[in-house]
Amino acid sequence: MNILLIGSGGREHALAWKLAQSRLCTKLFASPGNPGIAEHAELVALDLGNHAQVAEFCAVQGIGLVVVGPEAPLVDGLGDSLRAAGLPVFGPSQAAAQLEGSKAFTKELCARHNIPTAAFRRVTSEAEGLAALDEFTIPVVIKADGLAAGKGVTVAMTREEAEEAVREIFSGRFGAAGAEAVIEEFLEGEEASFFAITDGHTVVSFGSAQDHKRVGDGDTGPNTGGMGAYSPAPVLTPLLEGEALERIVIPTVQAMASEGVPYSGVLYAGLMLTPKGVQLIEYNCRFGDPECQVLMQRYEGDLAELMLATAESRLATLPAPQFSPETALTVVMAAKGYPDTPQKGGAIDGLAAAEADGAKVFHAGTALKDGQLVANGGRVLNVTARGPNVTSAQQKAYAAVDKILFPEGFCRRDIGWREVKREAM
Ligand code: AMP
Ligand code: GLY
Repeated sequence: MNILLIGSGGREHALAWKLAQSRLCTKLFASPGNPGIAEHAELVALDLGNHAQVAEFCAVQGIGLVVVGPEAPLVDGLGDSLRAAGLPVFGPSQAAAQLEGSKAFTKELCARHNIPTAAFRRVTSEAEGLAALDEFTIPVVIKADGLAAGKGVTVAMTREEAEEAVREIFSGRFGAAGAEAVIEEFLEGEEASFFAITDGHTVVSFGSAQDHKRVGDGDTGPNTGGMGAYSPAPVLTPLLEGEALERIVIPTVQAMASEGVPYSGVLYAGLMLTPKGVQLIEYNCRFGDPECQVLMQRYEGDLAELMLATAESRLATLPAPQFSPETALTVVMAAKGYPDTPQKGGAIDGLAAAEADGAKVFHAGTALKDGQLVANGGRVLNVTARGPNVTSAQQKAYAAVDKILFPEGFCRRDIGWREVKREAM
């Protein structure tokens, strides 16, 4: 079977690496891809906004499965157009992708179906937002409704900060994503990510991870897309994972089906482990980046088989996904200036040396310029290693990082610190 993978980041490099190993995969295409993905796939320059052109490409190349990596094309309805053309697609419909695309949609679904999540108010103007703050205690969380590239959420530690966040959203800074806002109760606890694969009926666990969103060591500085991650997340014990499945993820999949917007694909639940139990922070309709990189390092099944069964609504016919008991940990190497203004063009060398001891370097934002690998984005490389626990996976990952020559880059030196500290106790 020929497969088309959509996307160009580290997540898609990890997916390409795994899809290329599938016994079902004859030829892998990727659009737009990156130099790392090009090791496993033929890159094609498709206009992803032109759904007819993508469908035409699939027909000509005899594509038997389309895998959509990022959220934007899903929220834009690429999956619907391709399904309408008869193609099996891994990834939810536009309507179902609202679980990520609209925070208000998700919060109201949770409210209707008693799914545990922070108390909230949906507001549609600055005045309404400012007035609604009276109903909440500080800290309070303010979110733009739509996709805002990770920048639409403020955890306000003072009333002034909360008011400023409300004003910013309704100032138009986030475009259509800021037409509405959600004000939320602040949840206290440790965060963990949980992944489930569903075809709309059957739901299977696809493992857990924790990431580090702040740019600096010790979880300081501005938020990023994620500076590193590890899987599994030991804080999400089997008991808590069961609670997340039974009380949050399965009820969501059932609610989506019963409301006529069946969800198919990977459902990524951002969870808060609070003293009152597991609560949903948010859903994403795609794999996490860089969480996907560590999940793919541990997943032992045939990814194309799993994704095709999901796309064809026959997930129940497969055995449950199996994972290595080892820990995988990934360190993001970013271009200096990330997350604000990353420097493009910095030369990168030493990847073969970094991989010599079993680490895997996924390309996130790289390009080839006159035969030289260079930085071409904020997050540039994901240096990934496995070990019997977080401490050993961390050591192996940083040993690999230290072999990479990327003077215009930087990384955090403490990915996994919470678990390393717990493992030392
Ligand atoms: P989101 O984009 O919804 O994942 O929010 C980004 C980050 O804000 C999350 O990863 C949390 O760290 C934090 N956050 C979001 N909602 C809440 C909440 N209700 N309580 C506490 N922290 C939150
Ligand atoms: N690493 C967080 C995300 O993919 O949303």
